[in-house]
Amino acid sequence: MTPEAITVLGLGNLGRAVAQAFLRAGHPTAVWNRSAAKASGLAAAVAATPAEAVAASGLVVVAVLDNQAAQQVLHGVDVRGRALVNLTSGTPEEARNLARWAAENGADYLHGAVYAVPQTIGTDASAINYSGSPAVHERWSEQLALLGKVTFLGEDAGRASGYDVAILSGMYGLLGGFLHAAALARAGGIKATDLTSMLLSWLTDMHPALHTFAEEIDSGSYAGGESSLAMNQSGLALLIRATESQGVPFAALDSLKDLVDRQVADGHGEESLARAVESFARG
Ligand SMILES: NC(=O)c1ccc[n+]([C@@H]2O[C@H](COP(=O)([O-])OP(=O)(O)OC[C@H]3O[C@@H](n4cnc5c(N)ncnc54)[C@H](OP(=O)(O)O)[C@@H]3O)[C@@H](O)[C@H]2O)c1
Repeated sequence: MTPEAITVLGLGNLGRAVAQAFLRAGHPTAVWNRSAAKASGLAAAVAATPAEAVAASGLVVVAVLDNQAAQQVLHGVDVRGRALVNLTSGTPEEARNLARWAAENGADYLHGAVYAVPQTIGTDASAINYSGSPAVHERWSEQLALLGKVTFLGEDAGRASGYDVAILSGMYGLLGGFLHAAALARAGGIKATDLTSMLLSWLTDMHPALHTFAEEIDSGSYAGGESSLAMNQSGLALLIRATESQGVPFAALDSLKDLVDRQVADGHGEESLARAVESFARG
């Protein structure tokens, strides 16, 4: 089978790794980047404009800083008949707007949320969740698989980003918690490296509880809580006192306690900690 031409718009860290993966597989690859110098060293056809690059291929992969930049790059370009695959991070609504724009301009749109760093693109350590056009997902499946494990989440172009922002929130919550734990440990004369293996051991033991919490959240039934709101309210108050006395307060803990406090105030103290999610629903 003759490798088909592919276009990559955006040669930042991700876009360059994507172009390299296609080139490694023998696909004639056309590239465009706002700063032309970033194309140096790539055995690709370097286009002078996004329009020239898009004209070269049926599959157009976009990887720029944000969706505003993606809109600017695509503005005024003839994308008729193209499969647009946008790997740029953004909100679900931005992806849906781009899908609408693509449809109005005669293109099919697939949005991808990337779970990889540029160095792992094209390896087993790379996974990309897609949503949007099933036709693009099917027609270009072999080429998309060159970038990492493909998961298709359905026709709503915003769905991959919907998962993505939720996953990012979980990731930043974990990272924020880790940084605060390291600061708290340091304030108590404990090295971050000494703390981390114990922390990871505890997190590994407790992470299955997230499945239980998720089932409680989906069912809206919080009666069987082994980790009650009242117990966690007390634990968070203790922790907040400790952080203040050690000189490293962290507003995220106050926010979390506020979610718990509101449920306890409504008479749910004996129910599962997972019920705190209902405090978000009230804003
Ligand atoms: N890197 C990762 O590990 C990773 C992982 C998952 C998802 N992502 C997502 O992938 C996207 C790209 O990430 P990256 O790491 O490649 O970022 P990056 O290295 O900072 O590159 C940003 C790219 O966007 C271009 N750009 C920015 N503003 C532009 C504009 N107004 N018009 C045209 N081009 C513009 C830049 O062009 P210039 O070179 O001209 O500045 C550059 O090509 C982001 O949305 C990021 O969240 C990245």
